[in-house]
Amino acid sequence: MTSDLSLDFLRVVEQAAIACAHTMGQGDRRNSDRVAVEAMRRDLDAVPIDGTVVIGEGERDEAPMLFIGEKVGMAHRSGNPGAYPAVDIAVDPLEGTNLCATGAANAIAVLAASTKGGLLHAPDLYMEKLVVGPTAKHVVDIDAPVKDNLEAMAKALGRHVTDLVIIVLDRPRHEQLIADIRAAGARIRLIGDGDLSAGIAAAVVGSGVHAVMGTGGAPEGVLTAAAMRCLHGEIFARLVVTRPEHEARCRAMGITDFNRVYRSGDLASGERVIFAATGVTDGTLMKGVRFFGDGTRTASLVMQTHPHQVRFIDSIHITSGREDVKLRF
Ligand code: FBP
Repeated sequence: MTSDLSLDFLRVVEQAAIACAHTMGQGDRRNSDRVAVEAMRRDLDAVPIDGTVVIGEGERDEAPMLFIGEKVGMAHRSGNPGAYPAVDIAVDPLEGTNLCATGAANAIAVLAASTKGGLLHAPDLYMEKLVVGPTAKHVVDIDAPVKDNLEAMAKALGRHVTDLVIIVLDRPRHEQLIADIRAAGARIRLIGDGDLSAGIAAAVVGSGVHAVMGTGGAPEGVLTAAAMRCLHGEIFARLVVTRPEHEARCRAMGITDFNRVYRSGDLASGERVIFAATGVTDGTLMKGVRFFGDGTRTASLVMQTHPHQVRFIDSIHITSGREDVKLRF
């Protein structure tokens, strides 16, 4: 897998974001997701890889495209797979379908790629998560009381617990967690959806977010881990396996230790990892897609481990073909 692929993946997430941004606020989350999936699927075939989707839209019988196991990339159009690098792909064409459908903040289009075998094949179950940035990653423990983690984080970050901002998905299942954070005195930002973009923000100094706590989707957890590999943050995560049916789904993906605490290097273990995301709606780290008469402007985050780069990319896509288009800084 070469570094040049990062810009190919950038194009893929940009196009997915542009496609679904047209549906912003239309109130139809399924349609928003569908157009993002279609755009991402189409553009992935222009990437020079022999790709396999390992985190996608679900099993083959529930998703018409970007299903787990689907082959993507130029290799499968050329009929000569051996000529292209074998790459595992994790996608979330629209992370935060409700956010896009309602025009709320932090919807993003996301893709991660790794050398073969480098992304956990996680079932679409819930996952307990604790996501922190580089400064706090050595002092927290997913099994420690919330108060202890907040005190340890505050000390590591050189501030008071009352200064911390913790993002939590606004769900009834988090009632106790929210009460514990409040009792410890930290500040909380409750979000409707989107614990992946929240996790990325927690790993970037200056975002105003210090941690993400609570239970969200396992696929989003693997994508968060890929981002953490590039940002030197950390996700501590454990699958929520409460029923025999969950156990069967884990076993089908080769997971037998249901209590295992995973870290970024376990969920995204690949020697090389690339992560690309484009803002759909305005967010903490990236602006959403802006349409102007002659084209479109997108804001993206593209990162990779080799060479180790984190790039914030502001792209202007001119589509009108006019000669006199004026660009604004
Ligand atoms: P969608 O992109 O599928 O809408 O999911 C968004 C999300 O909020 C994730 O960020 C989060 O991990 C998960 O859903 C939480 O699931 P639930 O809505 O079932 O609590």
